[in-house]
Amino acid sequence: MSKATFDPTLYNKSNNEPFSQVLDKHLSRRHFVKSGLGLGAMTAFAGMGLTACGSDNSATPKPVEPTIPVPPSKSSAKLNFTSVPGARLDAVVVPEGYSAQVLAPWGTPLNSKAAPWKADGSNSADDQANAVGMHHDGMHFFPLNNAANDGLLCINHEYIDEMALHPNGPTVDATSKLRTLVDEVRKEINAHGVTVVRIKLVNNQWEVVTNDNYNRRFTGASVFDIAGPLAYSPLLETRYSPDGSQARGTLNNCGNGYTPWGTYLTCEENWPEYFVNRGTLSRDQARIGISKTTTRYGWDDLAGQDEERLDEFGRFDITPKGVSALDDYRNEANGHGYIVEIDPYNPTSRAVKRTALGRFRHEGCTFGKLTEGKPVVFYSGHDARFEYIYKFVSAAVWDAKDANSSNRLQTGNKYMDEGTLYVAKFNENGGGVWLPLTLNSQTTDGKTLGDSFATLGELIINTAGAADLVGATPMDRPEWCAVDPFTGSVYLTLTNNSKRTEANPANPRLKNNFGHIIRWDEGDKDTEFSWDIFVFGSPSDGNADTNLSGLTDINQFASPDGLAFDKRGILWVQTDNSAKEVADKTNDQMLAIVPSTLVDAQQKPLPVRQNNQMELKRFFVGPNDCEVTGFAISPDYTSMFANIQHPANWPYSSNAAEATPTGQVIRPRSATVIIRKLDGKEVAV
Ligand code: FEO
Ligand code: CA
Ligand code: CA
Ligand code: CA
Repeated sequence: MSKATFDPTLYNKSNNEPFSQVLDKHLSRRHFVKSGLGLGAMTAFAGMGLTACGSDNSATPKPVEPTIPVPPSKSSAKLNFTSVPGARLDAVVVPEGYSAQVLAPWGTPLNSKAAPWKADGSNSADDQANAVGMHHDGMHFFPLNNAANDGLLCINHEYIDEMALHPNGPTVDATSKLRTLVDEVRKEINAHGVTVVRIKLVNNQWEVVTNDNYNRRFTGASVFDIAGPLAYSPLLETRYSPDGSQARGTLNNCGNGYTPWGTYLTCEENWPEYFVNRGTLSRDQARIGISKTTTRYGWDDLAGQDEERLDEFGRFDITPKGVSALDDYRNEANGHGYIVEIDPYNPTSRAVKRTALGRFRHEGCTFGKLTEGKPVVFYSGHDARFEYIYKFVSAAVWDAKDANSSNRLQTGNKYMDEGTLYVAKFNENGGGVWLPLTLNSQTTDGKTLGDSFATLGELIINTAGAADLVGATPMDRPEWCAVDPFTGSVYLTLTNNSKRTEANPANPRLKNNFGHIIRWDEGDKDTEFSWDIFVFGSPSDGNADTNLSGLTDINQFASPDGLAFDKRGILWVQTDNSAKEVADKTNDQMLAIVPSTLVDAQQKPLPVRQNNQMELKRFFVGPNDCEVTGFAISPDYTSMFANIQHPANWPYSSNAAEATPTGQVIRPRSATVIIRKLDGKEVAV
């Protein structure tokens, strides 16, 4: 299900200039704010400790000859597969010479506490707490013992399909329409969150290792620590956590990230819908879109039920009811909307919500190219129409030794709890400004954010509201972000925005139904960047005003969403399309391109256009009605993992490419698909 039903335009009431108005007239002109040094040389110098360049040390550092090799600024990867045709099947499609295997579909037991998955939907809440969750989304592969055939797969579970989860959908009282079954609601809560599962390659097939000590679930009921500016804040105090140190549950885990120190990042996206305030919405609740009437699945219907434990259902009703926050759950939603750090290698560790990275509908979280002695940067988009792109710059500077830290969550404390959050403003000349979100930051009306927020914690609770005040650029639904390992350029999917009503020479589609991918390079200062548009989604038969990248049958796509680089410099683009013009021709898909090789004679980066569009190739097509999302790859590049979310009538067997027979109806299961070459060599090249 795409989120076409959710209209965030209701919430962004700022008058910031829409992105459509600031797009440069020239589709690909990019103003480089970097001065002098090429990126490769900069990295080499910084690696030698010339970090005073970025400090306020007034002595000009003398450039010295690099003694370490300058890393290549261009990938040597060449895509070596034939683009697959569009398809509309209850099966996946892969290039000739490849296989596709289903792994860890929803309901797969992680341990023997869970009964095997039952095709009639009758598994219990306890089964679900010990089995793979529903609606797979972002994921990452963490190798064990540096092996390429043994590791931990972390999988996000974004939301649920109640019709598939239960034998006959949700049970409600005939008159009141309220939920009635405790176990059913617990099962729904347990189907959310994250799965950590050990997998091994045995005889060319990946297997789930049942009962492995690393296997674990995080659900909508798990306990998380709060870190960063909101740890122990009065804004987090609830009847359950009177000191504001903990929050229960992670919900709507969509995109993901990982850290340079070996932890997983899961991103809380459309969490506001799970809560209701039947009283008066606070400023931040109104801005982010908390409902005054309903919750997404009616979990709060069972508040006060005899079997309820520790207010497990009542907490979703955040209407103030008691004398103070310690008596009710008015602050429960304040524990949601964050980047959450999980250490998959330590199965007894508690996961941590990193509040310094802002609170909004986080799609993903991606770190920028690392430089020793420089801060670590994380990017995250707020996926809703007319919302913003953010980056977090750590206060601590990168020490490469931390990549091998044995206390990974403590390393997370070092790089993710203190720093500065910025929001992007795109200017017309191909330049852009990162606007800091601090209490001292200037607002567009000549005040400071400190005039609107008493503390940094209060600002973070209403991150999007603060971004409104400083004049950030409203975007067309920012989704995933990916960083080119060769150039450091940052790519971000803007999936679509059907509410765009103004024509613009640079983005001339009246409705941006097909989406595009923007990219930028950081400047010398933390506050500067330069940008262009890498590719526009479109049907191949779109007219010249629509098909701005000259896409053809081999690569037409719409609504780019999942996005990832592998370390070979291949960019993988996944779609979550609701535009009929492309959906009539192909199901959702995954495409590949090597952006760093798309350069002109002067080695300047080029966008995808008619004369080079053939470099963008379709690698994979998913089954009917699914979304293709989440990307991982084994360290030897021989196994690629992608998730199939909310398919209609799939999978029929463990062979993902085997179609469900015509006329046969099966209970659909989101699942991971593993794509391998029949000869066992690296995929895609
Ligand atoms: Fe969950 Fe923005 O996709
Ligand atoms: Ca989705
Ligand atoms: Ca998504
Ligand atoms: Ca999407």
